[in-house]
Amino acid sequence: MKKLIAGNWKMNGSLAINRDLLAALVSGMAGGDSVCDVAVCVPSAYLQQVQDALVRTPIKWGAQDVSAHDQGAFTGEISANMLRDFACRYTLVGHSERRQYHGESDSVVAAKAQRALAAGITPIVCVGETLAERESGQTMMVVKRQLAAAIHAVGHCATEIVVAYEPVWAIGTGLTASPEQAQEVHAVLRTQLLAACGRSASLPRILYGGSMNASNAALLLSQPDIDGGLIGGASLKAADFLAIVAAASAV
Ligand code: 13P
Repeated sequence: MKKLIAGNWKMNGSLAINRDLLAALVSGMAGGDSVCDVAVCVPSAYLQQVQDALVRTPIKWGAQDVSAHDQGAFTGEISANMLRDFACRYTLVGHSERRQYHGESDSVVAAKAQRALAAGITPIVCVGETLAERESGQTMMVVKRQLAAAIHAVGHCATEIVVAYEPVWAIGTGLTASPEQAQEVHAVLRTQLLAACGRSASLPRILYGGSMNASNAALLLSQPDIDGGLIGGASLKAADFLAIVAAASAV
């Protein structure tokens, strides 16, 4: 399965900072020897800038969230069709920061995934347990519940999503799930996806996110059920992000 390395810039950047970062990514990938898929998920305010910079490059782009609604009186929201206007290939849905700070439930996240797919955009459905949930032995139950909601909502389109396992305790903390810990959860998610999708030729990719960086990427990405990475902090530094892309292309 071709790996996918996606950057999640979160609420970082400026026109000037993005210009330099995008130029460095484009020139870093210009050799053309990357054999993995690469994308950046950026603040929506910068989608036009990112589209202009990446349109004739191998790097795809996307958003970090999408509305669960089609259109109308939803102040501040951005619809899937609006993202399509900027040729977004991906959008994150259900990132733990959305679940935690904006109260997004499993069913809201599932509706967002459905809206994205209906607009031809691949949702990257994020799942992951908190530290308290891990310590009380609930990890598998939590991630399976989160994924089940999305699978249920998207039905036969489940083959077209991407899943990202992001243990909340490993996000932005410098703590990383060990390759074994991550693999254990990915294997459970894979089994769940297999049951939902059947032995389809194209099973969804399952990315790992949570302090993935240039030094730990190769080991994580060599696990059998880790199909890529969703990168926060390290996606803001071109050299680090390119090193992760290189690691994904080498396994
Ligand atoms: P960090 O890589 O900064 O831990 O963030 C991970 C993440 O939340 C990606 O979506």
